[in-house]
Amino acid sequence: MDKLLLITGGSSGIGKQLAADLLASGATVIIVSERPDRLAQATAELSAISPNVRGIRCDVGDSDSVIQMREQVLSKYRCPDILINNAGFATYRTFENSNIEEIERLISVNLLGAMRCTMAFLPDMIARHSGTIVNMASIAGRLILTPNGTYCAAKHALVAWSETLRHELAHFNIQVNVICPGRVESPFFEHITFQNRAPRPEARHTIAIQDVSRATLRAISRNRFITYVPWSLGLLVWITNALPFLIKPIYGRLISSRIRSIYK
Ligand SMILES: NC(=O)c1ccc[n+]([C@@H]2O[C@H](COP(=O)([O-])OP(=O)(O)OC[C@H]3O[C@@H](n4cnc5c(N)ncnc54)[C@H](OP(=O)(O)O)[C@@H]3O)[C@@H](O)[C@H]2O)c1
Repeated sequence: MDKLLLITGGSSGIGKQLAADLLASGATVIIVSERPDRLAQATAELSAISPNVRGIRCDVGDSDSVIQMREQVLSKYRCPDILINNAGFATYRTFENSNIEEIERLISVNLLGAMRCTMAFLPDMIARHSGTIVNMASIAGRLILTPNGTYCAAKHALVAWSETLRHELAHFNIQVNVICPGRVESPFFEHITFQNRAPRPEARHTIAIQDVSRATLRAISRNRFITYVPWSLGLLVWITNALPFLIKPIYGRLISSRIRSIYK
């Protein structure tokens, strides 16, 4: 692939795997993340696959930081052909136990971060009349999960915004894709609030990071709007919407049992 890609959250987990697969296919990849040490380590590891990797530090939760990142990218390279808005994090806390700073940060990174980065490169994509924007949402963007209400709200909004954007930007020959993975084993769960959670049977079902990367690359090449990983989650969403009177009470029992295990 002879393209320039920018992956936010490219220093870890899904983003890093995507970067590795893209570098192996011949692309040039800019990885963007917040913590300099993890960024430097990931850039060094990925450069063993290809020298065409660069790391740029940026907090997508901060508008000034995104503007600085944009300036670095445009002055040293050019507008990316493909922007993958993948940076994100979650906390394992009920709304009642959350504070407003954490809530604002969840929305700012998971939703506004994708909007800030898209806004940063959109004028150049529009001028060029081409581009691809991929938003890494989650199954939490289509079904509710607890105790992650704010994360769910951010990911639901990310899916809704992506769908609107897809229609608006088709006018400029820019494609928009959204990916909804289920649970992926990654450093995502190292956040302090996940450390003391009770073991849950549903948490045993995990997807390999490589599967998410493969599905994302396929979604880009086929320009599929929404991709569930695994695909069976899409079926679950469809059945839940088609037969809410049947599925919501069953799903509600699972959610209530999660809440009971938190307050036990
Ligand atoms: N793991 C799952 O089960 C799962 C399931 C569905 C969807 N997702 C979504 O997939 C995406 C990637 O998650 P992952 O599992 O790969 O998690 P991860 O291994 O924790 O990676 C998260 C990445 O996002 C970056 N990041 C976080 N906050 C940032 C900020 N403010 N500015 C810039 N970069 C920031 C991190 O960089 P630093 O290391 O520098 O903080 C890291 O590179 C997220 O959007 C997540 O919501 C994950």
